[in-house]
Amino acid sequence: MPTVDQIEPTDSAHPYDVTAAPDPADASAQAYKAQLRDYFDGIGFARWSAIYGEAKLSRIRHTIRVGHQQMLATLHGWLAQANLPHGAHILDAGCGTGILAVTLAQQGYTVTAVDIAPHMVQAATERAIAAGVAEQITFHTGDLEQVGGRYDAVVCLDVLIHYPPALFTPMLHHLASLSRGPLYFTHAPYNHLLAAMHWLGGHFPQSHRRTTIQMIPDAHVSAALTGAGMRQQHVANISSGFYFVRLLGATPQS
Ligand SMILES: C[S@@+](CC[C@H](N)C(=O)[O-])C[C@H]1O[C@@H](n2cnc3c(N)ncnc32)[C@H](O)[C@@H]1O
Repeated sequence: MPTVDQIEPTDSAHPYDVTAAPDPADASAQAYKAQLRDYFDGIGFARWSAIYGEAKLSRIRHTIRVGHQQMLATLHGWLAQANLPHGAHILDAGCGTGILAVTLAQQGYTVTAVDIAPHMVQAATERAIAAGVAEQITFHTGDLEQVGGRYDAVVCLDVLIHYPPALFTPMLHHLASLSRGPLYFTHAPYNHLLAAMHWLGGHFPQSHRRTTIQMIPDAHVSAALTGAGMRQQHVANISSGFYFVRLLGATPQS
């Protein structure tokens, strides 16, 4: 993993920082989400759609692309083990540019894909049309906590990593309530190197142009899962340069 000094200021291309976040203690959930929506609908859209695309990237962003691909490959392995029936209905909460939603549709699943950023939903829709699977995917623009219904599985990748503990728990509970089967999600585990990066991030120029990573202590994640009536089934730490997330798979306790 590169150190902060290797990354900044010579390569300001990394899109993560923590100092751009409003203070979670006094920011309302709605204001916090609105800031994330504006980021992912604006400057973040270009950055993340490039990372999730195929064009050549800077060294830092390339490590994030590789890590994201590793995380997706792990998820697909777990989904295959889950043996969901053909046509099972999967919710992709925070679908971004639709990489997962389109792949799931190509595998024969029915997909509902939701994202808070309109440009992300537009890009995901275009990807689905280009792949010839638009009829299998229902797209919505909005907050995942406003999604209703019941799904055979719920997936939420690299979304909760942006939310502080006070918002993480209700979001996880809501996602769990939508699934009659497994729930798969990523979070950012507490890690001293990341914590140092976050602290140092406050001294970097243009930090308002990046998004945030919010580390959640393991005990908090376990308590949130238990409170949601889920038990952990799978866990994988995915680490590639500047990409470091924990992918979890959980199933209903009963
Ligand atoms: C880093 S991207 C990950 C995209 C996708 N899940 C993937 O892994 O390719 C995070 C996405 O979460 C979306 N997002 C953030 N908060 C959200 C919320 N409350 N409800 C729905 N989408 C949200 C953002 O708009 C953005 O598209």
